[in-house]
Amino acid sequence: MNLSVSSRDQLAILGGKPVLARPPSILWPPVDRRTSRDLLALYRSRVWSWNGRWEQRMCAELRRLHTAKHAIPMVNGTVTLEAALRALGVGKGDEVIVPALTWIATALAVAYVGAKPVFVDIEPDCLCLDPEKAAEAVTPRTRAMIPVHLYGGMADLDRLLRLARKRGLKVIEDCAHAHGGLWAGRGLGSLGDFGSFSFQQSKTVSGGEGGAVITNDARLAQRAFRYKHIGYEFGARQGKASGGLPEDLLCRNYRGTEFSALVIARQLEGLAALTRRRNAAADFFTRELERIPGVKIQARGRRATRGRQSYYAFVVILDLREWAGADLGRVLRALRMENVPMGRTYNSVYRHLLWNRPPSAYRIHGGYRDAKGPGCKVSEEVGWARSLCFPHGILDLPRSDLTRLAEALAKVQRRADRLSALN
Ligand SMILES: Cc1ncc(COP(=O)(O)O)c(C=O)c1O
Repeated sequence: MNLSVSSRDQLAILGGKPVLARPPSILWPPVDRRTSRDLLALYRSRVWSWNGRWEQRMCAELRRLHTAKHAIPMVNGTVTLEAALRALGVGKGDEVIVPALTWIATALAVAYVGAKPVFVDIEPDCLCLDPEKAAEAVTPRTRAMIPVHLYGGMADLDRLLRLARKRGLKVIEDCAHAHGGLWAGRGLGSLGDFGSFSFQQSKTVSGGEGGAVITNDARLAQRAFRYKHIGYEFGARQGKASGGLPEDLLCRNYRGTEFSALVIARQLEGLAALTRRRNAAADFFTRELERIPGVKIQARGRRATRGRQSYYAFVVILDLREWAGADLGRVLRALRMENVPMGRTYNSVYRHLLWNRPPSAYRIHGGYRDAKGPGCKVSEEVGWARSLCFPHGILDLPRSDLTRLAEALAKVQRRADRLSALN
């Protein structure tokens, strides 16, 4: 990469030529002929729901990839969290630790079961739940934690599980961003009491909508299955209800369809290979980007198995002092004009426009306060204020495109002093 300053360095946002003539073409979710054929056959079979063949196959793939004994499919990755909490008996009066930086669903699920989400700060390198701050946030009411493997970066499971054992807490790994990721050889989601997956449209494995939980505990699997399947026992045939349903489970219908199960199963079959290819691309892209002053990449899982770091986004953390002190909004606008497909991270949950819980219904741990009110410092100052995400599909682009993207970032960094002219 040539980092020298030259006249063609005029920023596109100020009338110069963009580094990329157009945004790279990223087509997601993937489509293929075999899946189209299978979908047509499924349609003609008239068997569209209820423990069908494709649901079984999807679950078998998920169990294999994520080294878990049981997998239970559901309609999305929000109700999976709710079902896991219910299966664990979490409810009214309980507190559940969640990271400040995540999609709101992680905390909403806690609210659904009548418990109180406790927002705890993230680590500045991997952007996942900080184990030390989680330890500080534990009270006699704390029943569980939901670490999120944010954007595929892995929460420090060794330290979090140690904390959970010491304080008698349950752990649900939110793996909505972590398909195919392995921690020291073990599938993400299989180390806690439950792992929860989303297969929504944009996810690394997508069925349009969809979700699943995994667990190694047969009793918990039974409870989660009954909860999502209106009380039926694990694997029950339609019309073959059996009793013994525990009273504390007011069960739901969260069944998905065979159509999404088929699409998900096919993608899971290719996921290990896709993850390995993307890991190689990510190593290359990291080297290109980290030559630019003021650029760091979200840290990989500390014990991520080689080739099995998961990616839901490729996150770049900027030290804006090296970008002439520009604010992130202006940097992003300039990058977009260079045809770089980047976006902001989530906002901290308690700042999200769709987070409408009253302050009495949640707690923010830490005592940090800025102009907008109480918050979690790293989530605000490193996550929201300094991080930008590429969509995961960039990792499928040719290396030459990745080099061009890095050149575009280098150009904006070199000329960042000009961004103050923007309003
Ligand atoms: C971290 C996280 N948890 C949970 C969810 C909920 O998944 P779904 O959209 O399938 O309900 C999402 C996804 O959107 C997510 O990003």
